[in-house]
Amino acid sequence: MSLLKVEGVHSGYGEMEILHGVSIEVREGEIVSIIGPNGAGKSTLLKTIFGLLRPTKGQITFKEEGITGLPPNEIVRKGLCYVPQVDNIFPSLTVQENLEMGAFIEDDPRIISERMEGVYELFPLLKERRRQRVGKMSGGERQMVAIGRALMLDPKLLMLDEPSAALAPKLAEMIFAKIKEINGQGVSLLIVEQNAKESLKLAHRGYVLADGQNKLEGPGLKLLTDPEVGRLYLGG
Ligand SMILES: Nc1ncnc2c1ncn2[C@@H]1O[C@H](COP(=O)(O)OP(=O)(O)OP(=O)(O)O)[C@@H](O)[C@H]1O
Ligand SMILES: [Mg+2]
Repeated sequence: MSLLKVEGVHSGYGEMEILHGVSIEVREGEIVSIIGPNGAGKSTLLKTIFGLLRPTKGQITFKEEGITGLPPNEIVRKGLCYVPQVDNIFPSLTVQENLEMGAFIEDDPRIISERMEGVYELFPLLKERRRQRVGKMSGGERQMVAIGRALMLDPKLLMLDEPSAALAPKLAEMIFAKIKEINGQGVSLLIVEQNAKESLKLAHRGYVLADGQNKLEGPGLKLLTDPEVGRLYLGG
């Protein structure tokens, strides 16, 4: 079943149009990866889906309900969460405080603590460090906090912008393994990645974006072995 549908979306910043009619879909249970060169509009697409930018044309549907133009606080309540590429944690707060902030729309303390336990099960290291300030933690640990914070909202669909950016290969691998684990718990994921190879290996399906337009799409492994994708994004 279709969970998220983006159809012919045009969007950008002020007068400057960046997305010129982009269409993508995420079905229930899928991991979908979006790859493409710097400046392709990948982050702009996630921001537009999440309601941070308003499309000038096109439709966005989540769980068969139109969400085009809705603000982020309403989108979150429908079960669509987003971890931005930058500024995705509160550095001056502790791990636990960051997670509590994540659950801002939930006021039942039992549900909040259940979800927090779920996050600590996924990332045991965060439990050990729960009283540490996140600003003092490593890049990999911060990424865990950012993802954990989004999971506090119990999303149906989680959008991650460059979850492995600036991480050493071992840590990136760990984050990809966690993404798989999250997906195994029934959460669908839409991931934007620089690390095209690893993200296509992980994904059920992928899309290639360039210049604000769809270029290619298909099963992750099929894109991974596509000669054009290889030449353009995987270094031959
Ligand atoms: N806040 C902004 N105001 C104006 N232009 C912006 C803004 N953010 C991004 N842009 C422009 O929009 C275009 C697409 O940027 P976007 O961040 O969506 O690309 P991207 O595919 O995510 O790239 P990267 O791989 O570098 O993260 C770029 O030309 C960028 O300069
Ligand atoms: Mg980006």
